[in-house]
Amino acid sequence: METILLNTEGHVATITINRPKALNALSTQVLTELNEALDEVNANKDVYCVIITGAGDKSFVAGADIAEMKDKSVEEAAAYGKFGNEVFRKIETFRCPVIAAINGFALGGGCELAMSCDIRLAADTAVFGQPEVGLGITPGFGGTQRLARLVGAGIAKEMIFGARNIKADRAYAINLVNAVYPLEELMGAAMKMANGIAKNAPIAVAYSKQAINKGLQTDIDGGIEIEVEEFSNCFATEDQTYGMTCFLEKVKDKAFSNK
Ligand code: CAA
Repeated sequence: METILLNTEGHVATITINRPKALNALSTQVLTELNEALDEVNANKDVYCVIITGAGDKSFVAGADIAEMKDKSVEEAAAYGKFGNEVFRKIETFRCPVIAAINGFALGGGCELAMSCDIRLAADTAVFGQPEVGLGITPGFGGTQRLARLVGAGIAKEMIFGARNIKADRAYAINLVNAVYPLEELMGAAMKMANGIAKNAPIAVAYSKQAINKGLQTDIDGGIEIEVEEFSNCFATEDQTYGMTCFLEKVKDKAFSNK
């Protein structure tokens, strides 16, 4: 892969979008290789948490590739939008948690990539925005859908209609990001969080992710049914017996088996 770096350390895989000369803009090649990297990580059952970040210290992802998009026909734009959305939906429904470590510009497709992750950690230098209407298009990789769900329709509309970027402190204030760190501390903080997640029972974490995501798409009664199902399914796992035995026998140093 030319535009994606993949590094696995313990139970944590880090995917780095590596096209710094174009501020990590999402060309078809980047999207294709990101898709491949996700499949590779998915096949490695020892990975319990994923971090996505951008190469360099300036940009997470500065959006979809404007040079590549400029001359697209309606049909080509539809195929591009569909593919970008498929890749981002793969992240959103990925079998284990995905943390975005946002190390700079997260604009357009970059903000959308971050929003498809489960948790967003930002550098204090990060800049967020959906500048698409300034280019004559709508957001195309989920921005009209996920931004409103995350920050509410009013603020999403203000950001999308106005095409105005916001800084990390504002992103934190509107719940777009979970936490903000000095740039040089960002990856350490993301790694610490990922390792903290990876210490827990992976199947229970995965079921929790599914219950939250599916439950957000339904009413409270439907959501409770989903939870009952995911909760009870845990009792078919070895890690449930092990985790509870460790508690009762006061074993502190646990190592779940992912079974
Ligand atoms: N697509 C293609 N190339 C991009 C790019 C993008 N989204 N963003 C930056 N680049 C390229 C620039 O063209 C430039 O290339 P050259 O050196 O060959 O000229 C290089 O990256 C560096 O960029 P700048 O010189 O512009 O850097 P800057 O520091 O002056 O500005 C910036 C940084 C404010 C992020 C500016 O680059 C910018 O505004 N980028 C575009 C952001 C944007 O509009 N993103 C939304 C794209 S549309 C979209 O994403 C649709 C969707 O939802 C699917």
